Amino acid sequence: MEDKKTFYITTPIYYPSDKLHIGHAYCTVATDTIARYKRLCGYDVMFLTGTDEHGQKIEDKAREAGITPQQFVDNIVAGPKGVLDLWKLMNISYDRFIRTTDDYHVQSVQRIFKKMYDKGDIYKGAYKGMYCTPCESFWTESQLVDGKCPDCGREVKYAEEEAYFFRLSKYAKPVQELLETGTFLEPASRVNEMINNFIKPGLEDLCVSRTSFTWGIPVDFDPGHVVYVWVDALSNYITALGYMNDKYDEYKKYWPADVHIVGKEIVRFHSIIWPAMLMSLGEPLPKKVYGHGWLVIDGGKMSKSKGNVVDPYVLAEKFGVDALRFFLMRTFPFGSDGNFSNELLIGTINSDLANVLGNLVSRTTAMIEKYFGGRLIADREADALDDELLEMITSTREKYAAHMDAFHPHLGIEEAFKLVSRANKYIDETAPWVLAKDEAKKPRLATVLYNLLEAIRVSLTLLTPVMPETCAKALKQIGGEEYATWDNACKYGVLPADAAVFKGENLFPRVDVDKAIKELEEMNAKASAPKSEPVLPDVDIDHYAACDMGVCKVLTCEPVKKSEKLLKFTLDDGSGTPRQILSGIHKYYEPEDLIGKTVVAILNLPPRKMMGLESNGMLLSAVKEIDGKETLNLLMLDDSVPAGSRLC
Ligand code: MSP
Repeated sequence: MEDKKTFYITTPIYYPSDKLHIGHAYCTVATDTIARYKRLCGYDVMFLTGTDEHGQKIEDKAREAGITPQQFVDNIVAGPKGVLDLWKLMNISYDRFIRTTDDYHVQSVQRIFKKMYDKGDIYKGAYKGMYCTPCESFWTESQLVDGKCPDCGREVKYAEEEAYFFRLSKYAKPVQELLETGTFLEPASRVNEMINNFIKPGLEDLCVSRTSFTWGIPVDFDPGHVVYVWVDALSNYITALGYMNDKYDEYKKYWPADVHIVGKEIVRFHSIIWPAMLMSLGEPLPKKVYGHGWLVIDGGKMSKSKGNVVDPYVLAEKFGVDALRFFLMRTFPFGSDGNFSNELLIGTINSDLANVLGNLVSRTTAMIEKYFGGRLIADREADALDDELLEMITSTREKYAAHMDAFHPHLGIEEAFKLVSRANKYIDETAPWVLAKDEAKKPRLATVLYNLLEAIRVSLTLLTPVMPETCAKALKQIGGEEYATWDNACKYGVLPADAAVFKGENLFPRVDVDKAIKELEEMNAKASAPKSEPVLPDVDIDHYAACDMGVCKVLTCEPVKKSEKLLKFTLDDGSGTPRQILSGIHKYYEPEDLIGKTVVAILNLPPRKMMGLESNGMLLSAVKEIDGKETLNLLMLDDSVPAGSRLC
């Protein structure tokens, strides 16, 4: 038997730094729809997704949460309502899930790094930029806010750090030629963007290692350096197949990838850096990179602050997973940005799913139950009125496939819907309820209803990649489950003449717009209301107990020169030696009001320098945002509590 043709498709691997929103789901649902379509066509599909788990941001977030980076990513990837749960909910049919913390990936990346180094394409140099010492971060001039660190607002200074660089500049010409082929990167508009904005101004070599943080893959031949994000992240597309590792043995079978589906902001990395890396490694290049647009809200970026509006769990629970998948794929041209709104989502569910598709399936199955007890008779009587519908039943598949192959799922779906709409019109033209009144017209009535079943069968087959579960249910209702194959999707006369049909549950109930919007608004208000429950992950008692919180008396308190925020405290912590702590609370307190007060401090933090002065600990305050303004109250105890008492 001839081997099936392979199709290797990937999504970007996600940063597990926050919970994912509907924008993230958009990319994965699109990739899933295409992967399912290719499987339907008979391809041996490898669909890869995963998580990109290294980097300073994760290291920082883990530190803030008081857990290890590994615990932090484990929680967001595999914890409740994490990435894996979300893909399960959204019915994502991935074949492989890679985590960049997986041992085999780590090992391969070290080998990839070494191979490019041995070739002379990676060399040691210095990373230069504006550096914020407390945040341990480099920033470019354009990232600074008022010349200060965008994260903490402190002064930054010019600094250099030893780092490895990848000779990206060497590959500028072949990469430009690749982009100019016109088939490598789509949509075409993105090609000019890459050439004009990045290649023509001159490609700079890329920093590929860092020493200022440790949460990364160690460069095994130079301790202290960790591989810096993109070499680690992009390599996943080949390490997941077994490139330079023994975990898998499918590199030969699936590489080069047929398509990398990526969001527009990371097209640059996939269409310039990735091919350059592969050229350096001497490996074949992916056949295509497709850069899709973004889901935006009111023209702006999606973020957690948009609350439930963008929470896929809330939306899927309210409207159904398939309705949500359908909406995402049907509404927005894949290459362009799409403005997401709940009104649009509900509108699409009501117009396309309830009124058009749902209506066709329920009317047809109801009539077959009513007029024929669920099984049509075999006598037939054709009419010229049928011709147009029958022609569409056999020709829709080809038009649908052309769009799907061009990564335009919204147009593919539109073709399937043209058939659905034509079938609805056919019901009005043939008026089965009139035919049903005349016993002599039964063969004609059976023909009309059979033609409708065939139109439904073909359209549901073509809509299965986007709505797998609902289409399967609907196919069952028309007795068509086993006939929903790609080969059958361009044929007429496939369903048995007496297929068993039943009107089951309503697959696409209409959504009451006002009620649903009101409910979502209420949920949003609730979600953005001040929370009393903890927002950080759980910590165990040992972590809590490791924090030494002691009672101190304020001996002196004065402003720090040249600082608007800082106050310098000398404290009696009960040890007999005065302790100095700096605290940024001048905005809230006058220093003289604090002298003699009984306060609480964390005593076992490592010393930290601020404005040239050492701070040995941190004063505790109660902080809350009220009406958009931050309020702060220094934690003060009754003066009878002795210095040196511990909080427990
Ligand atoms: N980790 C990198 C990718 C490395 S691939 C070797 C990354 N991760 S991400 O989590 O920030 O983004 C993952 C994908 O989600 C990207 O393709 C990004 O474009 C996509 N989206 C994030 N927000 C989106 C929308 N609002 N709309 C559509 N896609 C969005 O980048």
